Amino acid sequence: MFDEITTFSFPTRIVFGRAAIRRLPACLEETGVRKPLVVTDPGLRASPAFDAVVSVLKEAGTSHEIFDRVHGNPVEDDVLQSVAQYRAAACDGVIGLGGGSAIDVAKAVVVMARHQGALADLEAQAGGMDRMTGPYDPIIAVPTTAGTGSEVGRSSVITSHQLGRKIIIFSPWLMPKRAILDPELTVSLPPFLTAATGMDAFTHCLESLTCPTYHPLCDAIAIHGLELVIRYLERATRDGADIEARGNMQVAAAMGAIAFQKDLGATHSLAHPLSTAFGLHHGLANALCLPAVMRFNLEAAATHYARLARLFDGADRSATEKDAAAKSIDDVEGMISRLGITRGLRNHGIPHESLETLSVSAFDDSCHKTNIRPCTQADLLALYEESWR
Ligand SMILES: [Fe+2]
Repeated sequence: MFDEITTFSFPTRIVFGRAAIRRLPACLEETGVRKPLVVTDPGLRASPAFDAVVSVLKEAGTSHEIFDRVHGNPVEDDVLQSVAQYRAAACDGVIGLGGGSAIDVAKAVVVMARHQGALADLEAQAGGMDRMTGPYDPIIAVPTTAGTGSEVGRSSVITSHQLGRKIIIFSPWLMPKRAILDPELTVSLPPFLTAATGMDAFTHCLESLTCPTYHPLCDAIAIHGLELVIRYLERATRDGADIEARGNMQVAAAMGAIAFQKDLGATHSLAHPLSTAFGLHHGLANALCLPAVMRFNLEAAATHYARLARLFDGADRSATEKDAAAKSIDDVEGMISRLGITRGLRNHGIPHESLETLSVSAFDDSCHKTNIRPCTQADLLALYEESWR
């Protein structure tokens, strides 16, 4: 027992609460940033969240620059253009404002502002982590969705022009110095995006809980994250102005991302190619594939799933572990349906003839390697088939 040495860390300082954005000037001062570059996307530029950030900066008299051209699936050009602006304006820190995309670009900006080579050099699976020798300028993350948890994560996903595919950059130096979670900044997120991003957070919690890596701290965080999503995601989707639900979903999303430093599972391997090949929203892709993966994992993950069933209201505490585990799948499917998500990849523009090719990409994706039940490519194809119907 405990022969293997493991390390645990939860270092991001999170500033959470209604109007927490008012603490932005203090966060900049504490981290030594005098001239930040605000990195965001065109949709957010027109939103009240953007206005709130800029008015706080103006009120504090903080000189700042704005880059507002981040793509939904960020590309290398987003990074190169914002780095050029960052250098030209002599910025000394970034504020990533938006969903995971803007925050991911913000993370890459501080690295590329210093790195002499290409973005592709930094790819995690090509040994990029060793080429990132921080510390870099501080990153302040201000999420406006509650799902990816990039605000507490140490990775960034960008499409490399050179390689023509998404690459993952991973380093402890990419961890934001501050994450400001202000539920008021998420109230304008429409119901579909609230539901889809929330299901991403749910999947992070569940896949990290079930993955076999030993990390009891992450497990406890994952369980509470699941509980929060079960209690608040439907509320936040129904009524975007429900601050209690919005705030708890922000916390759940951060908890999901903290938990998945443990690792993820097969649902994420199935979801990634669906977004790359067909532009399917990442959270939606997870929601559509998760029930099939749960059925595949049922026996191996019975203890975890039985625990999940008890987090849903009305679970029968006298049920056997096996029955409770099976019930959890019905509970998850019920929640997805109440969120207004129509089941079946076929209903979301995924052609049946693409499943074989998708399964090749899913097998290449590393997430399934930490699935609680090992997967072959044939298993992943069968999971796509089941999720398609
Ligand atoms: Fe995810």
